[in-house]
Amino acid sequence: MTQTIAGTNGSSGGDVNPLRAGVTSSRITDPCNVIFFGASGDLVKRMLMPAMYNLRLGDVLPANYGIVGFARSEYDSEQFRDEMHKSIDEFSRTGPAKDPLWSDFAKRLSYVSGSFEDKAAYAELRKQLEANDAELGTAANRLFYLSTPPSVFGLIIDMLDEAGLGPNNNKTGWTRVIVEKPFGTDLDSARALQAEVSKVFDEKAIYRIDHYLGKEPVQDIMALRFANVIFEPLWNRRYVDSVQITAAETVGVEDRGGYYDNAGALRDMIQNHVMNLLALVAMEPPVSPTADNIRDEKFKVLSALRPMDRNRIMQDSARGQYDPGSIGGKPVPGYREEPNVNPQSNTETYAAVKLFIDNWRWADVPFYLRSGKRLQRKNSEIAIRFKGIPHRLFGETGDSIDSNVLVMKIQPEEGVSLRFSAKVPGPKMHIRSVSMDFNYGTGFGVVSAPAYERLIGDAMRGDATLFTRWDAVQQAWEQVMPILERWQNSYDDSFPNYSAGSQGPSSSDRLLAADGREWRKI
Ligand code: BG6
Repeated sequence: MTQTIAGTNGSSGGDVNPLRAGVTSSRITDPCNVIFFGASGDLVKRMLMPAMYNLRLGDVLPANYGIVGFARSEYDSEQFRDEMHKSIDEFSRTGPAKDPLWSDFAKRLSYVSGSFEDKAAYAELRKQLEANDAELGTAANRLFYLSTPPSVFGLIIDMLDEAGLGPNNNKTGWTRVIVEKPFGTDLDSARALQAEVSKVFDEKAIYRIDHYLGKEPVQDIMALRFANVIFEPLWNRRYVDSVQITAAETVGVEDRGGYYDNAGALRDMIQNHVMNLLALVAMEPPVSPTADNIRDEKFKVLSALRPMDRNRIMQDSARGQYDPGSIGGKPVPGYREEPNVNPQSNTETYAAVKLFIDNWRWADVPFYLRSGKRLQRKNSEIAIRFKGIPHRLFGETGDSIDSNVLVMKIQPEEGVSLRFSAKVPGPKMHIRSVSMDFNYGTGFGVVSAPAYERLIGDAMRGDATLFTRWDAVQQAWEQVMPILERWQNSYDDSFPNYSAGSQGPSSSDRLLAADGREWRKI
């Protein structure tokens, strides 16, 4: 089957997959400039610039666009283009940059060198943007992407405003800002950051990235729920026994030990990515598909989360830290041996938590969330386990009749599977669990575009649906704070407590065993 690239028109290319026929072009209409702060950093090299290039390749970028890099490294625009050429060659999902597309793309790339507090550099940036408006037709529309540590978000925003580049000074075009995660390191710092950002930008112009929301299968959660009739009647406490949300990784902290040792799995994954998955899977149908209606429903779910009982944190959560072990047959070091990690570190690389949503739909249905590094397999999924049958008719002695499980597979497999009971062929009524599987790749004949492509495109379009609104960020912080405080204030003597390449710590198994349940195998 011909593989087309998601984001391109379904009719382009040779064979047309009938499932994509009639999908209209996704070209962005507004001309604009995208300005990357932290342009010499890893994220820009590995993800953001390749994403821009592939948006162009897929004909998604508007006809008139400009890209400006801003960072301390002392490049000129020519050197910046060379650097970006190299990163696209190395990291683009579609292979090395090719002419004539690259030459055209490169013409629209420019660079401003300066530190984030350097007034003159912002004046230079303004000049460059005005030149782009005149020469590239970018119409004073500006998307600032802060791919920098959160500690400088406030500074950059103030400096932009001072340089006359804030939204209030832009009388002809729009001005938006994308901020990378983490949005704060706890509830107080998130609030302080919000106060700084919102001094200059209105909430509607702030795009807080959670790249999980840009993953195709995550977006499909809403389609599965609200573009089908068969799931909704079962999507509640009458039929659902429990929900498991897993974000398991095989990677360790790589070269991010310095950041990670001050963060940990709860801050790094649960507070944002995993909470967003929970909100999508548990929310009520929105009244319309607009960004705010969807985000209203997500917020309502998060605000219905039962606050953690401070006396039960140890029973209702579990933490872990990896020991040396092996992944895919290769030995890997333990967390405390990773570069820039404290050799006595108390930071968790695995977190699990049990939550309840106190509303009519979900009362008393446990939601088990877990995320960890250096686990046996990379696997992110949401599994809805339904209740058992009320009365057993079939099955020979020894046959267990398992509950139905609906799994939304996020990565590395992307799809949906439903487990149900079936009769084993033969004269007896033996019952076994079988699986019905849908896979996006084979179903639609597309390779899903990386999340950043989708998200940058959406911010250029002004569609904030897949970005996290402040009220939800705040609510998610409120939920995790009691656990965070407890974990910070108590040294875990059992650390390191799981081997790299395993299923995680036994304390996590106990969390479910206490309820008579088990985690799904990672
Ligand atoms: C990031 C975390 O937000 O998400 C990383 O900071 C983590 O620690 C990454 O590895 C996981 O994203 P993905 O897309 O690789 O699952």
